[in-house]
Amino acid sequence: MTSAWDRPWCASLGVEEIGDTVELVGWVRRRRDLGGLVFVDLRDRSGLIQLVFEDEMVVEGERLSGEDVIRVVGEVRARAEGQTNADLASGEVEVTVVMLELLTESETPPFVVEDEANASEELRLKYRYLDLRRPEMMANLVLRHRVVADARRYFDEMDFLEVETPILTRSTPEGARDFLVPSRIHRGSFYALPQSPQLFKQLLQVAGVGRYVQIARCFRDEDLRADRQPEFSQIDVEASFITEDDIYALVEGLFERIFPVVGIEPPATYPRLAYADAMERFGSDRPDTRFGLELIEMAPFSKGCGFRVLESAAAEGRVKGIVVPGGASLSRKQLDALSDFVKPYGVPGVLWFKRTSDGVASPAKKALGEDGVLRFLESAGAAEEDLLVVVGGVAKVVFAALGALRLHLAAERDLIPEGRHDFLWVTDFPLLEWDEDADRFFAMHHPFTSPLPEDLGLLASDPGAVRARAYDVVMDGVELGGGSIRINNATVQQQMFTALGITEEEARERFGFLLEAFRYGVPPHGGIALGIDRMIMLLAGRDSIRDVIAFPKTTSASCLMTEAPSGVDERQLDELGLKTR
Ligand code: AMO
Repeated sequence: MTSAWDRPWCASLGVEEIGDTVELVGWVRRRRDLGGLVFVDLRDRSGLIQLVFEDEMVVEGERLSGEDVIRVVGEVRARAEGQTNADLASGEVEVTVVMLELLTESETPPFVVEDEANASEELRLKYRYLDLRRPEMMANLVLRHRVVADARRYFDEMDFLEVETPILTRSTPEGARDFLVPSRIHRGSFYALPQSPQLFKQLLQVAGVGRYVQIARCFRDEDLRADRQPEFSQIDVEASFITEDDIYALVEGLFERIFPVVGIEPPATYPRLAYADAMERFGSDRPDTRFGLELIEMAPFSKGCGFRVLESAAAEGRVKGIVVPGGASLSRKQLDALSDFVKPYGVPGVLWFKRTSDGVASPAKKALGEDGVLRFLESAGAAEEDLLVVVGGVAKVVFAALGALRLHLAAERDLIPEGRHDFLWVTDFPLLEWDEDADRFFAMHHPFTSPLPEDLGLLASDPGAVRARAYDVVMDGVELGGGSIRINNATVQQQMFTALGITEEEARERFGFLLEAFRYGVPPHGGIALGIDRMIMLLAGRDSIRDVIAFPKTTSASCLMTEAPSGVDERQLDELGLKTR
């Protein structure tokens, strides 16, 4: 028997191994009987190899069925003329089996383990171990391993220390809902699972670690989407005596290392776009810049235009538009669909304008007159056969509606160039965000993010206008990571708490350990966290992070395989001093 570690992988066999006797192990993917000859595709982590059972081995091969686990010994030989398979890495060769050991038989699986997933996602999640046998899923695991291994090497070369931080901890300030773990020893008290290692990585800077990295698991109890899971992983970074530029260079260097794994070559440095400009031009703080359709300022033309809706939007809020090249051909039904698309964002619909060889058209034509419509089209730079869509309302809603509409139009009209990838830094985020419902400011990033020094004076007078030393790295419209330079000055920290309406007592109660640590020599520091799942999703060209997580949760936060979350014994609750209502 070959040592397990010397045994070749199925897909590694090729013309160079012709004539070798090899031992292989794996799963039967498929058997084909050709009368006097049995072909079996054998699968392992690497892929497939064709096994051939001839002569007295035919009866042995005939016993096999899908997903049986076998060990074989055989000789590698070239496939016959015309029988090679260019789709398979091992497609030029096959193995004639001289010994077969059936290690375990498989029952008929609930779905055929094929590359094209023809089973429903529910079934695939329930039998995830079968789903992971599919080559495309296994490839995602391999890619993830590769990227994380390369990242670890990169940070090691840059003198970063990987330090583990606690999972049983107390509430951290990322702003999502915490997952709580009841304490048995301290009845009535709870640990919180970390939303990120934020405070610990800052404390490690106080400790003098200087350059910290961790492949960190984070937990957030929030509503899930295709790119959000209740637990996810970050490449979490923090360093001392650095500026924003150092972080940008660090991340650009990392991406330069890992993206070529899938043939993507990011630029050496990325363009930077201030948050305010990102919102004005793209209606989003994570703009997809791979296509145009930028937002156009329409307020100056709306004031006093004679169309009441636009006039009042221009006076009280914002009016912005998008020119859709060639969009004049959209039917009435398609235009109505655009209105329906934006309604959920809180605007009544889109107002459209177009000019064709038949003249101008717009629902506002009666109010604006032919000339008025023309003026709108011209001021927006719309040519004949273009469509102009305009949305008015409060700024937040206008940006959200047009930001989403822009993406929708790009997808619908196929405007994203194949193979193009855009990387950029979004900078100068607002420090604070006003929450209508709570009637107070919240930290947009977290309460330890430093304001821009030149805006510090506004913190008391106009908190909403203060910009932060915070940044996000965005690829193709996806926020891959975010971070900031932190506050390391007690007075500024106090001003920040005041702006957030956090009393001194509250601050002491929630973050006392951090504030105390900062009294004993805190270096200037800052960092970033990159979402690993999102990064792998983009690298793998998938639409959902579930595809790149071995055992993900559904959008309703359950695991269909283990059926977590689940009820627990009365005895377990008793020990914890808990009662469910
Ligand atoms: P932030 O909250 O921006 O920053 O998170 C950083 C990155 O983590 C990823 N991410 C997620 N991925 C999957 N599912 C989720 N639910 C989820 N939430 C976030 C995103 C995001 O860009 N402590 C700060 C970082 C810092 O300041 O250094 C933090 O966690 O890709």
